[in-house]
Formats: sequence, C-alpha cells, structure tokens
Amino acid sequence: MEIVIVADRAAVGEVAAGAIADLVGAKPGALVGVATGSSPLPVYTSLARRVAAGELDVSQVRVCQLDEYVGLPPGHPESYRAVIEREVLTPLGLTTESFLGPDGAAADLPAACAAYEQALRDAGGVDLQLLGIGSDGHIGFNEPCSSFSSRTRVKTLTQRTRLDNARFFGSLDEVPWHVVTQGIATISDARHLVLVATGESKAEAIALAVEGPLAAVTPASALQLHPHATVIVDESAASRL
Ligand code: GLP
Repeated sequence: MEIVIVADRAAVGEVAAGAIADLVGAKPGALVGVATGSSPLPVYTSLARRVAAGELDVSQVRVCQLDEYVGLPPGHPESYRAVIEREVLTPLGLTTESFLGPDGAAADLPAACAAYEQALRDAGGVDLQLLGIGSDGHIGFNEPCSSFSSRTRVKTLTQRTRLDNARFFGSLDEVPWHVVTQGIATISDARHLVLVATGESKAEAIALAVEGPLAAVTPASALQLHPHATVIVDESAASRL
C-alpha cells in the first residue's frame, strides 16, 4: 500500500486526479469507479480543470458507481446517481451513456445487484476505483463487519453513517436505512484502488485502515490485501499514523 501525505484537501484532489489522468492517458477508454461524499469533490474539481485547460481528454472514459440508496424517489437530488451526474459527469462533459450504476429502485434488488456485478464484468472490470472512507472505516456502504468476500448486495446503514450523511438531507428521518453497494470483494477487483481522506474526523479510521489489523470491523483494512492500493490523505487525516 502506498501512503501519500499532502498538505491539504486541494492537494489530495490534485494527486488523486493525477493518478486518474495518468490512467486515462495510457488507456483512453478506462472504466473509472467514482465515489460520492465530500472527500472526492476536490478530485473532480481538479479533473474538470484539466479538461477545461485541454490537458486531459476524458471523452472515451467510462464511469461507474460504487453504491446507491434504496427507496429514494426517482430523480431525488441526493440519490448517488444524481450526485454523480451533477458532480462528475456534467463537469467533465460526459453523458449517462458512459455510466454504469446499480439500480436502487429495482423491485427485485438481489437481481439488480447480480446484474450490476455482471455489467462490471462485461465492461472489462474497473481500472481505478476512487474511494472515500466513512468515519467508522466503511468503504462504499460496506459497514463494519462486512465480509471481505462480499459482492454487490443490499446493506442496512448504521445509525452513525445515517447521522454522518444527514447533512445532505433535510432531516435524519429522510436518510434511507437501506442501500445497495459493491461488496468489498467487488471493490477489490478494481486494478487500482485510490482512497482519499481529509480532516481530523477521518484520522482514526485511516490509522485503523492502514496500520490496524486486517479486520472486518474496519472494512477499509481490506486495502492492505490489494496489490495496488494508494491512500492519499492530508496532514489532519494522517495525524494518527
Ligand atoms: C458515504 C459513501 C462513501 C463515502 C462516505 C464518506 O457513506 N457511501 O462512499 O466514502 O460517505 O463521505 P465523506 O467523504 O463525505 O465523509
């Protein structure tokens, strides 16, 4: 595992965007897995700047989604599909034609999860998966005690994650209890994992993920098993390493 410690949030975004730009330079049609939450936003800002400056051509890039809420009405602005369209696809000039995501509104969710696994395989697998980390060490929506061998499935959120994510909704009651998420094994199939974290609130989770034991209670510790994992953190998030 490679650990990159930089000064601040903007620098985290630059380094992670640099990894994506290098990939796309070598493989213009790469499948890039993106993440929601506030941590990856500087990455998308940096990518959009590079595209606007003519330094990066993402016209052939394909984008896929890590996880999704279950039970939000279609078009809800906080569905992760809507967030990715707003934060990633539109700023980069991409359309939903180049986008793969799980269907959190399907009547048969297990079938939708299996279909998403198949779609990722059919697409040739994820070249680079960008990840944030929950304050409890979750990746995607794989909450503590998720199996390292898990595949895309329905999960129930912990109250801690619902509280963490309530800031995106009008109230805690509006935060769904259920989600679909790529499993830890699904995430680990990506050829390169790039986890970004900033701020003191992530310091404990980063220390456990990077230096703690391999443990299902810290889902992000699965990155220790991956042959090509990069953790990019600012000095606050690195403060307990
Ligand atoms: C959600 C997402 C995760 C993300 C986490 C942290 O739980 N499912 O993918 O890593 O939020 O978000 P933030 O970066 O806003 O702290």
